[in-house]
Amino acid sequence: MSLAIVPGSFDPMTMGHLDLIRKAAKRYDEVVVAVMINPSKRYLFDLETRLEIARLTVADDKRVRVIADRGLLIDLYDRLGAKAVCKGFRNQTDYEYELHMADWNRDHNPRFRTELIYSHGQYATLSSTEVREMLARGEIPKEQVHPNALSLILTKLKKEL
Ligand code: PNS
Repeated sequence: MSLAIVPGSFDPMTMGHLDLIRKAAKRYDEVVVAVMINPSKRYLFDLETRLEIARLTVADDKRVRVIADRGLLIDLYDRLGAKAVCKGFRNQTDYEYELHMADWNRDHNPRFRTELIYSHGQYATLSSTEVREMLARGEIPKEQVHPNALSLILTKLKKEL
């Protein structure tokens, strides 16, 4: 059994993330989506809400499981016996950032393998930032997030205000 991790902030998970997760599920027997903390970010949704949004988004994908983890990705990698971490990139800026992350993780865990997957087509420009900006403008991100997760996103947002 091969297992891949798709880690991220997922603030919130978008249809672009789901596309990446499905690509990873074609390459590996099992995919663990890890909702984590990027210390350089301030989040709109707390970890538990990001986890719940991610769970609703991948609910139909049987070989995908979602967890939340507050620790380091290099430790989670060994704990799960992962074969790879899959991350998406949409452009050169993403790519350079991901290379930097991949190097850091590899330097601290020689077993760590990063697989970068190009996001093109329909979701090439979609980002969580765009979704948060739409929400801030009072727009409903119907196309950008999974329909199963939309009502939780809107409910949580009302509580924040
Ligand atoms: O969606 P993001 O914000 O690009 O995801 C980044 C994330 C959460 C995968 C990264 O920050 C991470 O691996 N966080 C877990 C803590 C960790 O391992 N930190 C060391 C590398 S910065």
